[in-house]
Amino acid sequence: MHVYGKHYRTIWFENGEVHMIDQTLLPFQFRIFIAKTYEETCQAIINMITRGAGAIGAAAGFAMAQAFTEAHIRGNNNLIDIARKEIESTRPTAQNLFFATERVYNAGKTSIEDALKEAQKLADENIEEARKIGEYGNELIKSGCRIETHCNAGWLGFVDYGSALAPIYLAKESGKKVHVFVDETRPRSQGARLTAWELKNEGISHVIIPDNAGAHYMSQGMVDMMIVGADRVAANGDVANKIGTLEKAIVAKRYGIPFYVAVPLSTIDLSCESGSQIVIEERDESEVLFQEGPDDTGQMKRIWVCNPGSEILNPAFDVTPADLITGLITSRGIIEPNIKNIAKLFQLK
Ligand code: MRU
Repeated sequence: MHVYGKHYRTIWFENGEVHMIDQTLLPFQFRIFIAKTYEETCQAIINMITRGAGAIGAAAGFAMAQAFTEAHIRGNNNLIDIARKEIESTRPTAQNLFFATERVYNAGKTSIEDALKEAQKLADENIEEARKIGEYGNELIKSGCRIETHCNAGWLGFVDYGSALAPIYLAKESGKKVHVFVDETRPRSQGARLTAWELKNEGISHVIIPDNAGAHYMSQGMVDMMIVGADRVAANGDVANKIGTLEKAIVAKRYGIPFYVAVPLSTIDLSCESGSQIVIEERDESEVLFQEGPDDTGQMKRIWVCNPGSEILNPAFDVTPADLITGLITSRGIIEPNIKNIAKLFQLK
């Protein structure tokens, strides 16, 4: 995708270092963060310098590859297993993270070069899959369509294209007009900050709405379809995604609005029978207590937005049951989410 006319991937590997667009500074500053060690890459995932299912997966794969190199340099093979555990504990809900560490870990058993190649292959596959999701999803979109989305499942959440936003990008590419309702997505405002920035960059008509305005616009007949991403999909089609997704799905059902989840196969966890088994990451209360942004001089500032001293809960994700979801848009086609259809997906080539 393009930033100020230059093509970027969200995350890439160069000379043993992981380079990533620093998403904590967007949309106010565009900077590349460089992680020199696997531990620095882990910190970047925890601090959400890089975030979103696909980008987390790519970062985890690169971190695992860094760990193989570091274990060799330090002459300490135990480091590989220690690193794998550390990487996997950074964001527990994100299935792509586990998918990536396993693949790179297994490849690294042969050689460091194989670990590096596998991590790179994962990142490349991430783009190919996202593009295919975009192509299938585009078939659902008519010109003039008004689409609501939650959080950021765009190219910043992947290596490129994204999941939920990929159909929108492909619709634009094929000459269709689309308009996007962007849920703000508190507490970290990935919608208001990241999705809006991406859509602006790509010249796509959009409007940011407060998190609690979705039901209003859906009830007014102003939303034709909702597309969101996913952080983990259970074998029965239940979907864990950014907190607030469940509410939107309930409201969409109430008003007969199709609710789609766009997802790469690497996000589907066949070992997880249903959504009730998905671990929901709890994040720090500071994300709710404060908001961060630049003052008039461009200096980044943190301000209180809640009553000091009140208790805070901050679950990062919720689970939407499969029966509220119209379809999963995957790189192998669009399916109704149920155990049979999901199992079949993995048999297709
Ligand atoms: O906590 P985040 O920002 O890493 O959340 C993950 C997400 O971006 C979403 O839940 C998203 O909608 C699906 S993954 C691109």
